[in-house]
Amino acid sequence: MVGACEAQLAYDYYKISCPHVENTVRNAVLGVVFTDPTAPAAFLRLLFHDCQVQGCDASILLGNSEMASGMNFGIRKLQTIHHIKYKLEAECPGQVSCADIIALAAKVSVALSGGPNIQIPLGRKDSTISSLQAADLNIPPPNITVDALLDIFTSKGLNLEESVAIMGAHTLGGGHYKHCGQVIRLAA
Ligand code: HEM
Repeated sequence: MVGACEAQLAYDYYKISCPHVENTVRNAVLGVVFTDPTAPAAFLRLLFHDCQVQGCDASILLGNSEMASGMNFGIRKLQTIHHIKYKLEAECPGQVSCADIIALAAKVSVALSGGPNIQIPLGRKDSTISSLQAADLNIPPPNITVDALLDIFTSKGLNLEESVAIMGAHTLGGGHYKHCGQVIRLAA
């Protein structure tokens, strides 16, 4: 069995097995954006929160374990990923991983928001395990220091400039806070 970390990624991974995968994801994301213009931000953050725990393996979708972590507060649009998976199962049964769907949804979200059309390799494998503790431990808290956040990105091979650039993801989207038990969304 190939573990999520051993997956061989390739830019043309689905060329034969599911050639229209990116179009299917783009159309689904576009459909959501028409009714919720804040959706691209949700898809981009979802990719970070998936990848930060056990790698990019869709473990965030499994049951309610990672999502039960307070670190995943405000994570949205999981249902859209399930919906895209359902569509792709009809189009190319058993081929496309949820981890790749999350990555593609983020990629098309960046492009739809006026960012670059980044080419990303595909072929991620889905995990069968997920853990609330791993999410608590690996997803950075809102009050993290700059030094600690740089440690996270440099441990993944990013230099200072790249670390600053990736935090530029926050030019999209908004935040939430709780007031008297109610979740209030700040402007996106
Ligand atoms: C140390 C690293 C990071 C910290 C501490 C952090 C923290 C946060 C916090 C506290 C929010 C607001 C959540 C809410 O109240 O709903 C947020 C939103 C967001 N984050 Fe991060 N983040 C980090 C890295 C990243 C990275 C690497 C990306 C993407 C590449 C990213 C993308 C986003 C996006 C797009 C939103 C807006 C989400 C929405 O509007 O639904 N973040 N982040």
